[in-house]
Amino acid sequence: MSSMKIENLQASIGDKEILKGLNLELEAGKVHAIMGPNGAGKSTLSKALVGHYDVKITGGEIHYKGKVINDMDAQERALEGIFLSFSIQ
Ligand SMILES: Nc1ncnc2c1ncn2[C@@H]1O[C@H](COP(=O)(O)OP(=O)(O)OP(=O)(O)O)[C@@H](O)[C@H]1O
Ligand SMILES: [Mg+2]
Repeated sequence: MSSMKIENLQASIGDKEILKGLNLELEAGKVHAIMGPNGAGKSTLSKALVGHYDVKITGGEIHYKGKVINDMDAQERALEGIFLSFSIQ
């Protein structure tokens, strides 16, 4: 397992800037919960991390397994182990 480091991440949906310089380190082997009010950008962050087509990364870096993954497409990221899935109980 590898940790992920997010540095000064900026991301937009259409013309709207949503993430305005997010810094976050996710430690390997730990469960992390992202909390915040409606519209804060939690889903946008998830989409930015998985390479979803709605979200354009306009600045900053996502580091994972020794690489900056900003420009990897969703399939490449999935093969590295980063993807979004539903949780059904
Ligand atoms: N497809 C979209 N087109 C335009 N604006 C969007 C789109 N998706 C999200 N937004 C806007 O981006 C901002 C962040 O939304 P986001 O869905 O990331 O918030 P959230 O923290 O996940 O909220 P919630 O708690 O309601 O799930 C909001 O202002 C929202 O209106
Ligand atoms: Mg959401």
